[in-house]
Amino acid sequence: MLPPTTWMVTGANRGLGLELCRRLLADPQRFVIAATRSPEEAHELQKISRANPERVHIQKLDVTSVEEAKAAAEQVARLPIIEQNGLDCFVSNAGVCSGGPRTVTEMDMDELKDCVNANTIGTIISTHAFLPSCGREKSKAGSDWYNLHLHHELHSEGFTIAAFLPGYMNTKMAHINNNYDDESMMLDPAVAAANSLRLLDRLRPEDSGKKWSTQTGLEVPW
Ligand SMILES: NC(=O)c1ccc[n+]([C@@H]2O[C@H](COP(=O)([O-])OP(=O)(O)OC[C@H]3O[C@@H](n4cnc5c(N)ncnc54)[C@H](OP(=O)(O)O)[C@@H]3O)[C@@H](O)[C@H]2O)c1
Repeated sequence: MLPPTTWMVTGANRGLGLELCRRLLADPQRFVIAATRSPEEAHELQKISRANPERVHIQKLDVTSVEEAKAAAEQVARLPIIEQNGLDCFVSNAGVCSGGPRTVTEMDMDELKDCVNANTIGTIISTHAFLPSCGREKSKAGSDWYNLHLHHELHSEGFTIAAFLPGYMNTKMAHINNNYDDESMMLDPAVAAANSLRLLDRLRPEDSGKKWSTQTGLEVPW
């Protein structure tokens, strides 16, 4: 299978999303739509875009906003390369992590709402908006049940849906929660991005509907 040429990554301004964009662009065949909720503050992305002016489009997108997701999908659909090729791969990477207690009896309800809103509802909103642009293939990380439903609905149309576990990475998110503050135990996000792309490049249609550890490259049970 030839590697995809048009990619979209949400939450692309830092952490894993930024490293995925960097690594994708190392291959001159790839065009990257880098989505961030604040393009004007995404200085690293702007640098990457200046270095690859023909192959990067920075897109404003807060994944929790239905209106913004619809508008973003319309803008992306009008890009000449998307009009011509469609979107090969959609990576739902944006997410937040609660810094509060991890037990169900102690968790803070407002933090829980924020997490569900960004990680689950945000994945669904953004994926739903960009589905029409996805022609051949689609890969994402997101909520498990949503992945499975997408797989059952879309696999027969040629979509490949995969959930990725990147492992504990040394990003801003990891430092929100003190459980993961031992940096020697954390992956560099650049390494995690390389792991993810290595796995994505070897996914076959029959791998759809499965969950993967990008660190080991092995399937993990749901
Ligand atoms: N770090 C870990 O150890 C770890 C482990 C397992 C899974 N993951 C998953 O890996 C993914 C990337 O995490 P990371 O470690 O790179 O975290 P990170 O450095 O905190 O980056 C999170 C990214 O998500 C964006 N984001 C958050 N809410 C958003 C929203 N409503 N709309 C659009 N963008 C939004 C952030 O943008 P802003 O800059 O605008 O906030 C940022 O770009 C997440 O899905 C996370 O759940 C991480």
